[in-house]
Amino acid sequence: MGDSAGGEKKLWWKEGVVYQIYPASFKDSNGDGLGDIPGIISKIDYLKDLGIDIVWVSPMFDSPQVDMGYDISDYEQVYRPYGTVEDMDTLIEACHSRGMRLILDLVINHTSDQHAWFKESRSSKTNPKRDWYIWKPPRYDAAGNRQPPTNWRSYFSGSTWEWDEHTQEYYLHLFAKEQPDLNWENEGARNAIYDSAMRFWLDRGVDGFRIDTVNMYSKGLEFPDAPVVDPKAEFQPAWSIYANGPRMHEFCREMNQKVLDKYDAMTVGELPHTPDPKRVLDYVSLADRQLNMVFQFDIVDLGQGTSAKYQFQEWKLPMLKGIVTKWQQFIDGTDGWTTAFCENHDQGRSVSRYASDAPEYRVLSAKMLATMLCSLTGTLFIYQGQEIGMINVPRDWPIEEYKDIEGVNFYNHIKESTGNDPAAMKYVMDSINILGRDNARVPMQWDDTPYAGFTDRPEGAWMRVHDLYPEINVAKQQRERDSVLAFWRDMIRFRKENADVLVYGSFEVFEPDNEKTFVFAKKQGQRKAVVALNFTGEEQTVDVPYADEVVFRVGNYPDGEPDGETGGGKQKKLRAWEGRLYLLR
Ligand code: GLC
Ligand code: CA
Repeated sequence: MGDSAGGEKKLWWKEGVVYQIYPASFKDSNGDGLGDIPGIISKIDYLKDLGIDIVWVSPMFDSPQVDMGYDISDYEQVYRPYGTVEDMDTLIEACHSRGMRLILDLVINHTSDQHAWFKESRSSKTNPKRDWYIWKPPRYDAAGNRQPPTNWRSYFSGSTWEWDEHTQEYYLHLFAKEQPDLNWENEGARNAIYDSAMRFWLDRGVDGFRIDTVNMYSKGLEFPDAPVVDPKAEFQPAWSIYANGPRMHEFCREMNQKVLDKYDAMTVGELPHTPDPKRVLDYVSLADRQLNMVFQFDIVDLGQGTSAKYQFQEWKLPMLKGIVTKWQQFIDGTDGWTTAFCENHDQGRSVSRYASDAPEYRVLSAKMLATMLCSLTGTLFIYQGQEIGMINVPRDWPIEEYKDIEGVNFYNHIKESTGNDPAAMKYVMDSINILGRDNARVPMQWDDTPYAGFTDRPEGAWMRVHDLYPEINVAKQQRERDSVLAFWRDMIRFRKENADVLVYGSFEVFEPDNEKTFVFAKKQGQRKAVVALNFTGEEQTVDVPYADEVVFRVGNYPDGEPDGETGGGKQKKLRAWEGRLYLLR
């Protein structure tokens, strides 16, 4: 094993910093309370100025919006309230003319039940597209009652099977019943996906895809029941059966051979339920041409319940450090690649989850986490609002303020199954408040005018704006030299200036069992960086490794490294939530 991580071969999608936009909540340009494509275009210079190279737009395709656009009814149209295909052409051009790239979400495990393909498929058992989706006859229990083909639990509660009266069969939906799963065993369906969802947009100039639930297309042919891990529940988590199925790698290779290889396109796959590094490597070897990189889920699963997501569990810092170390080192000596991220549209805010959102610590926390992320090997992904340190919504928001099908369905499920038990309901609300997807979906906070400058609509935005927008917003942070936004901008520049060690270097962790501090080093040949982070609100002493070789360069406190500590000594005192980066002198 050398001093640099695997895949040091330099490529644009390795060094590029990616910014994820959630179109409903980024910027409303026409006063209807919903974000839109012209709104995104109006903010491209803001992203350029931040140092962003690649813009990732979450689904903006035509959709009935049962799952915020992850239920697509036409891949070749834009959801009308967001704009038109011509607006997308303008957005592509707006990115390209500034030397930036644009990637889209590729949601091809399922479509909407309103997609023309599914309407045909469900019209009769003999329709040519019947086999494009997954249809099964019922089972019958001892009492002769009709039952779904398996005991699988959907991500959004209930069974993964929906009964179709008309043709007297069930269809599979791993997510909502309005999101029927495509049958990837069917070659005609695969070719239609490649044409409609991929080539259509690549030909218009998009530069790649974030691939939704990339490991669930190959479900096998058996459809066995899932093991019972939750005896009280009717339906059981079944990802051990449908994730990473037998033909998954074949399908990924085919996508490249038939489509992606013809373009200089990047791919990042969403890869849940895959904790084993060997299995992840099978997807990301450069030579094997499947995926460029993936979002492995360990970091965002931290604190989630094991049998159901919204059962929050306490966790300790060594767990986080173990996860970061594992996914930094797994590409060592290989031609694979990794990612650095801790937020997206499916997660609570990182400041609230991994650090402290208390008023006195949230700015320090946001900068400390930025120091960590900008020092990690792999492609860096930032989610909208992360660059200004947005935090979770207040705990006292009632369930009515939450819009996400996943959280709301789970809330209703617990309400029904416990008869509205107060203790159970409090625990659910605590869990939804920390882990809920809506934390990331509230409108972007642009300024301190009504509705955070997100919309001009007198009645406000489609979703409640975070109460703290007068304090946490872009305009204010653009005026303040020591803001979270200014820090991210500087950190991104610093990362690029030192890309050899920060983007491509090998990773070494120190004191992995220490529950208060996280100290790691990055190396590339003779070049070294050391990062020391305090994950507590109290002063902590750390040993800085390679102390004779490195000097303080970046910190989240205004005075940087206090005088007494500069120069000599290996021992440093880190103040509350302090983060420091040292670089070879
Ligand atoms: C992915 C998306 C999530 C969506 C799901 C179904 O996990 O990130 O938002 O609900 O897929 O498409
Ligand atoms: Ca709008």
